[in-house]
Amino acid sequence: MVAPGEPANKSEYVRTMFTRIAHRYDLMNALMTGGRHHAWRRMTADTLRAAPAGPVLDLATGTGDLALAIRRARPADTVVGADFSEGMLREAAAKLGRRGERRVPLVAADALALPFRDRTFAAVTSAFLLRNLADLSRGIAEMRRVTKPGGLVVTLEITRPRIPGWDGLFGFYFHRIVPAVGSVVAGDRAAYAYLPDSVDRFVSPQGLADLMRRTGLGDVHYRRLGLGTIALHVGVA
Ligand SMILES: C[S@@+](CC[C@H](N)C(=O)[O-])C[C@H]1O[C@@H](n2cnc3c(N)ncnc32)[C@H](O)[C@@H]1O
Repeated sequence: MVAPGEPANKSEYVRTMFTRIAHRYDLMNALMTGGRHHAWRRMTADTLRAAPAGPVLDLATGTGDLALAIRRARPADTVVGADFSEGMLREAAAKLGRRGERRVPLVAADALALPFRDRTFAAVTSAFLLRNLADLSRGIAEMRRVTKPGGLVVTLEITRPRIPGWDGLFGFYFHRIVPAVGSVVAGDRAAYAYLPDSVDRFVSPQGLADLMRRTGLGDVHYRRLGLGTIALHVGVA
């Protein structure tokens, strides 16, 4: 069933949208966050220091920034980058090539039906994926399925802040300014209007933590970053 306000075929809508904006994706991230997104990725990668040794899956790797941050945090481990957008994978491949990074194999894969065996990875991460999924429970279940027992499932997602006054300002920035910048810089107002709408429709950080627990993950906890606009969740498989 399609939730109110959601695109009808959400997976296809999301896949084609990211392929459309892939060439401007990094620039838009830099502009929208003032470059802060790299710090959030570093913090996400740092949580993996608590995971067992072994390969990591960065799901919805996009242009590969989190996979690169994880490689820096875990130089001994391979990081598989998976995504279902050809355009994003092309940008990731070009970036990895420019950096001479050979231990981030890229795989075309749908997060809702991962082409990996159960218990393959020491940790599975996703940054800014979850609100794009047509079936959130299934996405979390797939992340857990391919993680080894004792390994970590780590997610990073945008969330509405709760600080009075700041929430309104953030809403104005996100709903008014971001689509206008997206229109000029990426030539795609629709994609950058979908972004704040998808955040508004997404579950709260507490709701996501509850869902992760119901999916069988243990020791689930989260913290807010970026003045409450980002939530970093961790669970143990
Ligand atoms: C907002 S981007 C985030 C990219 C990257 N993780 C980052 O931090 O910049 C969302 C990514 O999720 C991917 N994605 C969305 N739904 C997906 C799915 N069902 N399976 C695989 N990738 C998906 C998109 O193609 C896109 O690259």
